[in-house]
This record gives sequence, C-alpha cells and structure tokens, in this order.
Amino acid sequence: MKHLLSAKDFTRAAAVELLDIAEDMSGVQSREVKKLPTLRGKTVVNLFFEDSTRTRISFEAAAKRLSADVINFSATGSSVSKGESLKDTAQTLQAMGADAVVIRHPASGAPFTLATSGWISAGVINAGDGTHEHPTQALLDAFTMRRRLHGAGSRGAALDGVTVTIVGDVLHSRVARSNAWLLTTLGATVTWIAPPTLLPVDASAWPVEIGYDLDDAIAADPDVIMMLRIQGERMRDAFFPSVREYARTWGLDDERLARLDEKTLVMHPGPMNRGLEISAAAADSVQSTVREQVANGVSVRMAALYLLLAGQTEENDR
Ligand code: NCD
Repeated sequence: MKHLLSAKDFTRAAAVELLDIAEDMSGVQSREVKKLPTLRGKTVVNLFFEDSTRTRISFEAAAKRLSADVINFSATGSSVSKGESLKDTAQTLQAMGADAVVIRHPASGAPFTLATSGWISAGVINAGDGTHEHPTQALLDAFTMRRRLHGAGSRGAALDGVTVTIVGDVLHSRVARSNAWLLTTLGATVTWIAPPTLLPVDASAWPVEIGYDLDDAIAADPDVIMMLRIQGERMRDAFFPSVREYARTWGLDDERLARLDEKTLVMHPGPMNRGLEISAAAADSVQSTVREQVANGVSVRMAALYLLLAGQTEENDR
C-alpha cells in the first residue's frame, strides 16, 4: 500500500487484512514492553492543519510503538493561502526525509493533492480532510464492531449482516462518509438518520439507507448505533432550531438508551458533546464502546503504518 487516502479504495480482502494485522498489533499493546522494532529508522511526520487531540496522539503512539521517529507539526491558523502553504510545508518535509506523512486538513482533498502532486515521495495517510473522509476512523470503528460482535478470535471475519445506524450531523461528517464506504464493503447495512438539513444534498448517491426519525431507527433494533458530533466549527448557518430541540429530537438521551436492546453497541468517534448528541449515561453505559474505540485506534494505525512502511522496506531491499 503506497497511500491510505480513502475508505472507498479498500477491497473487502484488503480491509480484512488490515483488521487482522491490527489484531496482532493489539497483542503488542497488552505486553509490558509495548514496542516492536519494525519501523526503526523510518520517519513519520504528523502534519495537522486542524485541531485534534485523539487522532494526533493515536498516530504518534502507533508510530512510536513501531520504533519510528515521529515529528509533530501543527499548522493551525496559518494565514498563507492553503495551496501555497501545503506545497511549502511538503517541500520542507521532503527535505527532512519523511517516509510517511499523516495529514489532517480542513480542505477536502488535501491529502490526495499531497500524495499526487509530486512534491514529496513519502506515503500519505489521510487523518481527516474537511468533510470528505477519515478512513482510519472507519477502520477503527469496523475493528471495534468486529471485536465486540464476533469476539477477539475473529480473524478473517467481515461484518456481513451487521446493521449500523449513524445518527446526527452527517452533512459535516467525514466519519459518516468513510464508514458508509468501509462498512458496506465489509457486508454491513448502513442507515443515516438525520434532520433533512444535516444530510448531504446528494445523499441518495451513497450506499446507505436514509431515515429522519431516531425513534423509528431504535425500534428497528440495529446492532450498532453511532452518534455523530454536531460540528459547530463547520456551521455557518442555523441547521436546527436550538440545542435543546436538537437534543430532544436527535440525541441519544436516557429514555432512548433504555429503549435500545442491551446488545446494541453505542459508538461515538469523539470528542463528545455530552448532553447534546449523547447523554452522559449513554456515553458511559456498558454497551458504549467509546473508550475501546480510542484504544483500538492505536492498533489500527499501527497496522496502517506497517502496511505503508514495512512493505516499502521490502520493496527497497529487493
Ligand atoms: C472526528 C473527526 O475529527 O472527524 N474525530 C476524531 O477523529 N476522533 C469526529 C469529530 O470531530 O466529530
């Protein structure tokens, strides 16, 4: 694998292979010494043009556990026009000898530009671009579902027949888009539930079912319900009447939690607006996977870096 840009690029076999490698990596994380020598001598640059806590830390931990050198570069609030600043930064990274660049950028398509521009020779991983895609989040979500639904010994398994309901601000969510591609590739059925104002205009072009009523979606008894964060920072208009109204109509509150089957997994990519899209009780319930998603994120990103960089070494050695 040269780059990891989109969940749409994965075949079912490639996705299952990455999840299986992530299982091996998670075994490393439960050891006392959580480190493998695999990427010794490789340099991974975290290039973050947008705020992030868990994703940046997760990639940093993943690279360090594989013994790579890590350089963190955050470039929030740059006043240089986006194309120019990305090119200038890329050339600096090339000069520093980056082997992989993990990029988060507010502009959809920025990782693709970086990978195909010829500015750098490094492998590029998309860590979230605008409202477009966040493929490693979808991979860690799939990994979390596979583990919870099929158990830890689930190597080789996909998500056939699993029903996943994704609720909330789909319009601004790269997580909803990447999950739509990856989960359906793995055999799951995905439903987006949102107010009409928070769905993409071309929603029917996606491999998902669409619904507008959270209570109907709960009555349909999905295997997984994934709540999305309201992306206030991407909203320039009023997309719903008020925060209270949103929580009442679209939030997973205590009363809706009580109506969910006890086997239904409750997921959220974080960061959560507790009391808005998800209640504290739902976030902290036994069926919530929020903390597991964070832990699994490190294993999945170790697998991604391994596939990008360990393969590269073998090719160069040949
Ligand atoms: C997501 C993101 O940045 O797209 N968060 C994350 O990566 N953990 C979702 C979000 O910000 O709501």
